[in-house]
Amino acid sequence: MASPPAPRKLDLVGDEETLFIPLYAKALDYRSRRPILGDAKADEIVRAVDFDYERIRTRGTPTLLVVRARQLDEWVREFVRAHPSSVVVHLGCGLDARYLRIRPPDGVDWYDVDFPRVIEARRSFYDERGSYHMLASAITDPGWIETLPSDRATVVVADGVFEYLDRTDVATLFGRIVDHCPSGEFDFDVLNSFALAMGNARLTARSGARLKWAVDDPGDIDRLSGRVKRVYLGSVFRSHYVPWPSRLALGIAFLFRNYRTSIRLVRCTF
Ligand SMILES: C[S@@+](CC[C@H](N)C(=O)[O-])C[C@H]1O[C@@H](n2cnc3c(N)ncnc32)[C@H](O)[C@@H]1O
Repeated sequence: MASPPAPRKLDLVGDEETLFIPLYAKALDYRSRRPILGDAKADEIVRAVDFDYERIRTRGTPTLLVVRARQLDEWVREFVRAHPSSVVVHLGCGLDARYLRIRPPDGVDWYDVDFPRVIEARRSFYDERGSYHMLASAITDPGWIETLPSDRATVVVADGVFEYLDRTDVATLFGRIVDHCPSGEFDFDVLNSFALAMGNARLTARSGARLKWAVDDPGDIDRLSGRVKRVYLGSVFRSHYVPWPSRLALGIAFLFRNYRTSIRLVRCTF
């Protein structure tokens, strides 16, 4: 039997390289005895890419990242079930396999968007065909939105992405999307300033990336756009996807505001 090809390096830097953090968390989850997400593609990619994964590993956090992905998957799944000819826009997709995990109905058009170098790397692992599309662009650039259908309900999902933008860039992006798409929702996560400071202490040393947007007051989300309505905000620590072995530790952490509000999931409609 032929042996698998030797792992190869990808040409990614700074913010792009942060995609390895959730990717590795999902691969570890896949290899665990009771996976939360069970993402075989993450494991396949981690094995195929030569990267110092231990450099980005942090204790405890992988579970939270996988729980976050699982909850966002669930919201997108609900949306496409309710709108079988809708559009999914997956912002800052990295090398994530959300499209394969969800397997949306045939009538759904799916757009994975990330920086050009990330999309180039993505093309070695995913085929663009049928209703699955990849867009190589900074999400803060205005042009890519014009390529989206403008007459269908649209769900926008951003998993571990908005914290890398300035708040004004997030507000501009929301404005452009609600101008272009007739109705839909945004599903995403936000970090508080405590998580931002801890994340930046690690990130800057390890990858040169920098987290920028912290949300301490949920009113900051409500003020992003007058046309977007927040319908849910909740701590990842309290998700029903948190596995039993982690519940005690996360339950204790939940008593402390800094931890409780460190990673929150948000669902907004427009
Ligand atoms: C922490 S990773 C998350 C990747 C993916 N969402 C996941 O959960 O596996 C952040 C991702 O956002 C992308 N990103 C950050 N800022 C971006 C921007 N301005 N435009 C496009 N992509 C961006 C990075 O390239 C990276 O893939």
